[in-house]
Amino acid sequence: MSKRLTTTAGAPMPSNDTSKTAGPRGPVLLEDYQLIEKLAHQNRERIPERVVHAKGWGALGTFTVTHDITKYTRAKLFSEVGKKTEVLSRWSTVAGEQGAADAERDVRGFSLKFYTEEGNWDMVGNNTPIFFVRDPLKFPDFIRTQKRHPKTNLRSPEAMFDFWAAQPESVHQVTILMSDRGIPTNPMHMNGYGSHTYSFWNNDGERFWVKFHFKTQQGHKHYTNDEAEKLIGSTRESYQEDLFNAIDEGKFPKWTMFIQVMPEADADRPDFNPFDLTKVWPHSDYPLIEVGELEMNKNPDNYFQWIENAAYSPSNKVPGIGYSPDKMLQARVFSYADAHRYRLGTHYEALPPNAPKSAVHHYHKDGSMRFFQNDTGNPDAYYEPNQYSDAPVADMSFEEPPLRIDADAFRHEQEVTDVDFVQPRALYAEVLNDEQRHRLHHNMAAAMGPCSQPVKERWYAVLERVHPDYAAGVRKAVEEEGDVNAVPVTEDTPVHAK
Ligand code: NDP
Ligand code: HEM
Repeated sequence: MSKRLTTTAGAPMPSNDTSKTAGPRGPVLLEDYQLIEKLAHQNRERIPERVVHAKGWGALGTFTVTHDITKYTRAKLFSEVGKKTEVLSRWSTVAGEQGAADAERDVRGFSLKFYTEEGNWDMVGNNTPIFFVRDPLKFPDFIRTQKRHPKTNLRSPEAMFDFWAAQPESVHQVTILMSDRGIPTNPMHMNGYGSHTYSFWNNDGERFWVKFHFKTQQGHKHYTNDEAEKLIGSTRESYQEDLFNAIDEGKFPKWTMFIQVMPEADADRPDFNPFDLTKVWPHSDYPLIEVGELEMNKNPDNYFQWIENAAYSPSNKVPGIGYSPDKMLQARVFSYADAHRYRLGTHYEALPPNAPKSAVHHYHKDGSMRFFQNDTGNPDAYYEPNQYSDAPVADMSFEEPPLRIDADAFRHEQEVTDVDFVQPRALYAEVLNDEQRHRLHHNMAAAMGPCSQPVKERWYAVLERVHPDYAAGVRKAVEEEGDVNAVPVTEDTPVHAK
């Protein structure tokens, strides 16, 4: 038997398709409150899209520990081999809006929420191990260059390469973006990286610096620019289709989790800053240590409820996992929760995708949409400290070990030096083969073709510092492909000499 349709207040609804009118030809009566309610609800169906990473795809799944890493961390989710933890994933493109095509060239977000027994751990990473900038004061400007031009309302290659040319440390990430890995065929065929250096601390109070890697077991697969262009012509939702259908058909995608570990005292040893987000840790110096397996095996019943309402934040960490001095990470610790309060509301942590599976007891009170039970367990214990023995209390045994900092407070600019070109050079000259380099040259040429000549020249100068063949290869590809859409150089075209 069908269920009874009700109002939001639970009363039976006599009709859901015929308005109450004065006579068969209208007008509609104001007292038809359920008509008003229905229209009013529709007007509130959208919430602000994420300021970045607006287009996304997600699933539910499980993480299983396969190797013992308890000597590095006391985090409960890693406490024994075989232990399983529920996970919510969300993958995304960075720049496109919510309706953007999936198969566009862009960095992909790779977010995992682990519902551990000591609270939620959010691993909010990307499919690249590094990033474009290393100082958070530059992040909003960087994002501005990826979004629409205020006058044309179009995306602007001129802005992108103008900015990157002024931030040569970006060349490592731009190289990955313009390489084959710039357009994965879907989230199942790409790696995920924590990117930043994080920290682990163990039961003996020892701290280790750590990098997180999630390597695809499906193998890497990418589209060329031509393939992606054709695909987008036939469907804009290729990632959602591939992911949803794979899980629906029981073909559950998997990733192997690895870590790289550096003892706390070794942070001065590498000839690069290990907290610089434009740098990887070479595998030969810091080998990958296997930890476990991630399997995504359930499509959410309701996309909006589970994926649009998902609120990831690097500030969600659990005992045994900590931050590092990475300046970018420090800014992200603030930024995400602030974004969620704006996008989802004060109590976003209580929404189903964000609610921890472990007990939650805190003294924050009331506010808009306080829709959940958040008792401290005793109605008299609504402040702290208090006299009640059953009231929640903080426990310093969960505090991470102290971190020694002995330095001058100052705006320490990290100047661009030759060190910044060593790793992109290794990627260009040693990791990529001839065919991959050829495609890199042409992908970059396609992206920067529309730029003005002064911007192109400034970018070639950056590539030259990576490798002369890189600059020559991209210059040649630009010349071969022509620059029919090039921004004309006029007296108004600003030229930044840096
Ligand atoms: P390795 O030879 O040990 O590793 C090379 C790495 O490059 C592998 O992790 C591989 O990923 C990855 N890779 C291959 N093609 C691409 C691509 N088009 N875009 C991004 N990554 C790619 O060398 P090193 O550790 O010494 O690193 C050399 C360079 O490789 C680095 O400077 C960096 O540019 C890049 N890299 C290094 C990583 C690291 O954590 N050390 C991680 C990713 C890239 P996979 O194994 O999945 O095929
Ligand atoms: C999303 C800020 C750098 C990965 C976001 C959001 C903000 C933000 C405000 C939207 C959050 C939301 O509304 O849900 C910043 C700032 C950065 C930064 C200020 C640097 C200072 C990075 C880096 C990575 C990253 C370095 C990866 C290593 C992501 C991902 C999402 C995201 C994956 C989407 C999360 C989701 O799936 O909901 N970022 N970001 N960001 N960011 Fe960043």
